[in-house]
Amino acid sequence: MPELVTPDLKPNQAPAHVRHGSNIGQPLTRRDGVLKVTGAARYAADNHPAGMLYAVMAVAQIARGRVSSLDVQAAKAHPGVVEVMTPDHKPALAQDPDAKDHPFMFRLDVLQNDRVRYAGQPIAVVIAQSLEAATEGAALLAPRYEAETARIGLDGDSFVPPAVGVGNPSQAVHGDIEAGFAGADRKIEAVYETPAQYHNPIEPHAIVAHWQGDSLSIDTPSQGMAMAQGRIAGLFGIAPDKIHIRSPFLGGGFGCKGLVAGPQILGIMAARLVGRPVKLVVRRDQMYGPVGHRAPTRQTLRLGVAGDGALTALVHHARTASSTFDDFFEPAAGASHALYASPAIATTYDAVRTDTGTPLFMRAPGEATGSIALESAMDEAAWASGIDPLEFRLRNYAEIEPTTGKPFSSKALRECYAEGAKRFGWAGRPLSPRQMRDEAGFLVGWGMGTAIFPALMFQAEARAVIRRDGSGLMETGAHDMGQGAWTALAQIAADGLGLDIEQVEFRAGTSDLPDAGIAGGSAHTATAGAAIHEAGAAVIAKLAELAVGDERSPLFGAGNAGVIAREGRLFRRDDESRCESYAEILGRAGLAEVEARGRGSADPASQASYAMHAHGAVFAEVKVDPDLGQVRVSRLVGAFAAGRIVNPHLVRSQYLGGMIWGVSFALHEHAVVDHRSGRIMNADLAEYHVPVNADVPSLEAILVEERDPHVNALGIKGVGEIGITGTAGAVANAIWHATGKRVRKFPIAIEELL
Ligand code: MOS
Repeated sequence: MPELVTPDLKPNQAPAHVRHGSNIGQPLTRRDGVLKVTGAARYAADNHPAGMLYAVMAVAQIARGRVSSLDVQAAKAHPGVVEVMTPDHKPALAQDPDAKDHPFMFRLDVLQNDRVRYAGQPIAVVIAQSLEAATEGAALLAPRYEAETARIGLDGDSFVPPAVGVGNPSQAVHGDIEAGFAGADRKIEAVYETPAQYHNPIEPHAIVAHWQGDSLSIDTPSQGMAMAQGRIAGLFGIAPDKIHIRSPFLGGGFGCKGLVAGPQILGIMAARLVGRPVKLVVRRDQMYGPVGHRAPTRQTLRLGVAGDGALTALVHHARTASSTFDDFFEPAAGASHALYASPAIATTYDAVRTDTGTPLFMRAPGEATGSIALESAMDEAAWASGIDPLEFRLRNYAEIEPTTGKPFSSKALRECYAEGAKRFGWAGRPLSPRQMRDEAGFLVGWGMGTAIFPALMFQAEARAVIRRDGSGLMETGAHDMGQGAWTALAQIAADGLGLDIEQVEFRAGTSDLPDAGIAGGSAHTATAGAAIHEAGAAVIAKLAELAVGDERSPLFGAGNAGVIAREGRLFRRDDESRCESYAEILGRAGLAEVEARGRGSADPASQASYAMHAHGAVFAEVKVDPDLGQVRVSRLVGAFAAGRIVNPHLVRSQYLGGMIWGVSFALHEHAVVDHRSGRIMNADLAEYHVPVNADVPSLEAILVEERDPHVNALGIKGVGEIGITGTAGAVANAIWHATGKRVRKFPIAIEELL
């Protein structure tokens, strides 16, 4: 049971519209927190069914070509090795893993042949009595290759992809671009490059797969269990309901666990091959290939600016890279659709095919990469116009969504700018660079960036029960990646059921529960929350029906509309002295429980009428050593408005985590690819740099109040991804302000600042 923590939040962090006394809005601590830090949480790889064997993948050391030989005999001869799964020796699949009939489907490498499409691609799986034996067996395979020259980088032949992200247009032009530039007093054009980034959740992908006849039981981390069920069902030719997935705890997701990945399928195939349960854990270095990554981009921004600082045209072109065999294209220019007012906006793409694993979702796919370029370019345009960067953004504030003309369902960005700037102390900022030094002689710079992320909704279902003893149950197969869904959704459940959270059993994390959709797109709380809210309302309506139709009840004759649920009781709306407990109602009706279901999804009418986004403003201070070029981010203040805040404690953590990733994007993270071999040279957490505590400055996240009557019944927007947008640009802009050097290649390297 979660406990109420004393709110230690600053006054401006608890939105005033939180209904005191309700569960929504309370800063509860995470129910999984203590379980995780004490080691009591059972992650996928902690499971050991009787008779379980260990599988270890061997992965390609070339980026393109074929495997010409594998020493299967040597591996098999090693003590403890049970089987070696190769393209020639594997269970048959019911479906081609390269087939694709759904936009949310990705092609998998599961030993279909001897081709190598990228470095790190699985080429064999060794199954043994112990992890050590399987590891040694994999080493003994000593693969030989026929290698071809790897195609890497962004300079290859390009083409216009048919769509970007999942089904977004790759060429969108609004207004008259030429006329916009013709009317401009100045034109800014610059090219920005962002690197490939790879997924490093603390828990890598892992699976324990157990076949019993044609039923399959799986422990694996998932951000989308129902989709995983469907994909696995298709590949193995069994019904989805024959597959039981348990995913109660994830050690992070960030997009890489949204779709089932090849290594998970290999674990299931291995279990089928040996007829015993099998565990397969992806090694840290093996994460750099088959589980998706953030594609590199080269973005060209062209801005036309009038004398008063108003944008006259905005062109955002992104070149991105995908794999040779699949079609995910990072939708990097999307950030320019909705943020700044301009009479003409074009977002366009081209792409190159490279010998890499297919890029996929990574926290704020599109907006994270795109907002770096856009926010840097806005800073360049502000300086060229002689206008303060915050003032420049205010002059281009979009009162309606510029590309569609739709009003915003809500938009408290102005308040974010104001509150963030005030907290940061932006008002004293000198316009020119290289004006500030600290007492140690370091150059000091201040920069800012705007954050934006769409408020999405997918589909979710939930089931609500009120029991005879007056307690409640809410079920939905939701996913807690560590973001706190298990806690926040339980808060929504408690309010929906009119109960204290201690009286609600909240079940999530397994695939036999109602489909909670996907924990992605920052839409999980909004979507699953809407389903929970509706299920709660429906079960209360059933309870009310029992009471108001029974003349022995004090609620008799009140009618459904005339009843409210609170603290385990129904009250007549017109006379709150007349009430009855849930237990009394069910007891008299002779029922053990009542149940109802609810669905969450976007409302098409609201979607058609309103543009829906969360917004924020991030202010950064950096200190740069003038002799060594070393950069420290010394302060970050982010102010975000994302509709109703279900749990300010958890939301603040999401913002801080996103902002830290923004620091990482600006200064640290970068997959280094060897141009000769196509291999990633820093595929581990020692050399793939992410910020450590010493790199993370004083951080502050301000929760700006925002009421949204249109996004969904609860007014919830997403908070999971917006923190990374805006931040990296703010840091880059602060570095320019400190040094006068505009670095357009990320992460920003020391040598660029000397
Ligand atoms: Mo997110 S990249 O939709 O997990």
